[in-house]
Amino acid sequence: MTGMDHEQARKTAESLAYASGFGNEHSSEAVPGALPQGRNSPQRAPLGLYAEQLSGSAFTEPRHNNRRSWLYRIRPSAAHPPFTRIDNGALRGAPFTETVHDPNRLRWNPLPEPPEGTDFLAGLWTLGGNGDAAQRTGMAVHLYAANSSMRDRVFGDSDGELLIVPQAGGLLLRTELGLLRAEPGQVALIPRGVRFRVELLDPLVRGYVCENYGQPFVLPDLGPIGANGLANPRDFLAPVAAYEETEGPVEVVNKYCGNLWSATYDHSPLDVVAWHGNHVPYVYDLRRFNVLGTISYDHPDPSIFTVLTSPSDTPGLAGVDFVVFAPRWLVGEDTFRPPYFHRNVMSEYMGLIEGAYDAKAEGFVPGGGSLHNMMSAHGPDRETFDKASAAELKPQKVDDGLAFMFETRWPIALTPHAARAEHLQRGYDGVWQGLERHFAS
Ligand SMILES: [Fe+2]
Repeated sequence: MTGMDHEQARKTAESLAYASGFGNEHSSEAVPGALPQGRNSPQRAPLGLYAEQLSGSAFTEPRHNNRRSWLYRIRPSAAHPPFTRIDNGALRGAPFTETVHDPNRLRWNPLPEPPEGTDFLAGLWTLGGNGDAAQRTGMAVHLYAANSSMRDRVFGDSDGELLIVPQAGGLLLRTELGLLRAEPGQVALIPRGVRFRVELLDPLVRGYVCENYGQPFVLPDLGPIGANGLANPRDFLAPVAAYEETEGPVEVVNKYCGNLWSATYDHSPLDVVAWHGNHVPYVYDLRRFNVLGTISYDHPDPSIFTVLTSPSDTPGLAGVDFVVFAPRWLVGEDTFRPPYFHRNVMSEYMGLIEGAYDAKAEGFVPGGGSLHNMMSAHGPDRETFDKASAAELKPQKVDDGLAFMFETRWPIALTPHAARAEHLQRGYDGVWQGLERHFAS
C-alpha cells in the first residue's frame, strides 16, 4: 500500500470520537434525527432507513446476558446475493481434528513477513483451538501479519467474537457501528457477526486474535476486591455511528462454521447511519488495567490479571480468559517473585506485545507465542529461577514488557501448519534444563 493510504487512515484514526463504558446501552446517530425515539421499529424509520435487529444472544437470555443492537441502515442486511465458498487461506475453525493433541511445551517465533498485498483477512493464520464453532463452544488462537489495507472488502465472523491484540502497527477498524483505532498496547473486541474492514496505520502490522465461540466476553466479577479494579468498565470505548454510501462491488466475507464464504454486494454493508444497543465493538487500552497483586507474600494466581472472561455453564470455569501481564510493582517479602512452576488443568497460550516477560529471560520474543497445554509443566527458566532465588527483595518495578495470555478450559489442538511451522522453535524444552538438584537432607 502507499504511504498516502497510511496517512489518510491515520488522519481519520486520530480524530475519532467514542462513547465510554463496557456493557452499556449505547446509542449514536451520524445524522441528526436518524435514530427513532420511543420505539425500535416504527412504521417508517426516519430518513428512509431500514430498521434491523442484530441479536448476539437468544431473545430469552437473562437481562444481564442479553446482547442485541438495533441498526438503522441504508439497505437491510437481507438484501444480498448468495454466498459461495472461497479458499480459507491459513484460517481454520473448530473442531480442530487434523492433529493429535500434543502434551509438549511449544513456542513459536513471529510469523514470517507476508507476501506483498496481504490484507488483515488474508494475513490471518490459525495456530489452533478447541471446542466446536457449530456448537458455540471453545476458542481459536490466530495470528496476523499484513501489509495492505482491506479494499472493497468487508469481513464478518458468524462463529464468534474477535479479540484483536495488535503487536506491531496500528489498525483502523471500520465497523458497522463506527470506527475504532487499535494500536499496540490496546485491544479491540468485535462482536459476533458485526462486519468490519481493517485499514492499516503502518506499512506492516502484526498481532494476535482470540476467536471466542462461547459466551461473549464480560468483565470478571471482583468479589472482595470491591467495586473497582482490574479493567474498569469506563475505559472500554465504543464507536459512534459512521456510515459509507459506497455503491459498487464490495466483497463481503463471512466466516461460517470454520469456512470462508464470499458474496459480492452492490453496496457497502457498512451503511448503518444510527444504532442503539449493547452488542457493540470496543477498544481498550491495556495500560489502563488496574494491576492488583500481593502487598505481603506469594505470587497471586494470574487470574488476578484477567481483563475479560468468557463464562461457561460451570461457575468460575472460563471458556477462555484474556489475561494481561502489565507493568507493576513486586514487593512480596520472602517470596519467589516471578510466576511459579505450574501444572494447570487449563491451557495457556501466551503472547508478547513488547519487551520481555519476567519468567523467561530469552527466546520469548514480541510477536511470538508459547503454548503450555493442559497439565504440561512450565514455569521460570533456569536463569530466571537462579536470579529470583538470589535477588535482594527490595521493591522492584516490572515495566519492561507487556505480555498476555489466552487461558482456556480445553487443550488447544494445533493446525497442521502450526505443528510443522518453520518458525516453531526446536528445543524449547532446553529452557528448563540445568535446573539442578539442590536438595540436601
Ligand atoms: Fe501457568
